[in-house]
Amino acid sequence: MEFIAALAASSMSNHISNILKQAITTFTCKPEWFTINLHSLISSMDKTTAEDVNFPTQFTSDRLWKQPGKAPVTCIEIYEDLNVSISIFILKPGGRLPLHNHPEMYGLIKVITGKVKITSYSINTERTMEVDRRSFKGETVPPFSYHRKQIVTAELSSSEIVDTGSNTCVLEPNRNNLHEIESVDGPAAFLDVLAPPYGTLIPNNGPRLCSYYSILSQVSSSIFRLQETKSPSWYWTDAFPYTGPELVV
Ligand SMILES: [Fe+2]
Repeated sequence: MEFIAALAASSMSNHISNILKQAITTFTCKPEWFTINLHSLISSMDKTTAEDVNFPTQFTSDRLWKQPGKAPVTCIEIYEDLNVSISIFILKPGGRLPLHNHPEMYGLIKVITGKVKITSYSINTERTMEVDRRSFKGETVPPFSYHRKQIVTAELSSSEIVDTGSNTCVLEPNRNNLHEIESVDGPAAFLDVLAPPYGTLIPNNGPRLCSYYSILSQVSSSIFRLQETKSPSWYWTDAFPYTGPELVV
């Protein structure tokens, strides 16, 4: 009887719930299980489609985005706890998420409608550290704080166009941690898993905030100095409720 009950419960599950369950497992498990769980999460995300979240079709039409005062980006929050958040970001045609960071976070992006260009930068790479060592030779502390805004040395790690047929894009604390995402050829939407979520505490370092950056200078072909900036005035978001399958955790 117990076996039948378990089977019935699992048949009530759905793809987005399975992703949520796997995300919670991945970001709360013992370190030795992390890599295998992360790969399992990525392969589930790879299979995610707009239907799995009952993506609201009105966001695929140009008419909605032409409404006066419409935010250039809409966010649908699906789930959030202290370990993981899952949401959908929808970008208007020609819309963009400005260059931003994910402090000590993992992020997984799966495009579910349209096409986006993701330009990613990595921090604390061998090349950025080498550049910083040369630049700040003889100084005990690199002058990272300039006019009270942070300056980051970052390596351009990838610039790629991804669509619904593409695999999940992954960012890590040091790899691809900063990115800019823009829609290509019309509106686009992606499922976004973040862990830990923004707003949670970084141990010994205060709240985990999202910072925005602009390119201050180019040091070499792929090394840039990025300066923290205010959130650009052309960027703001509005919210839309989640209307997909019930989450079963
Ligand atoms: Fe991001």
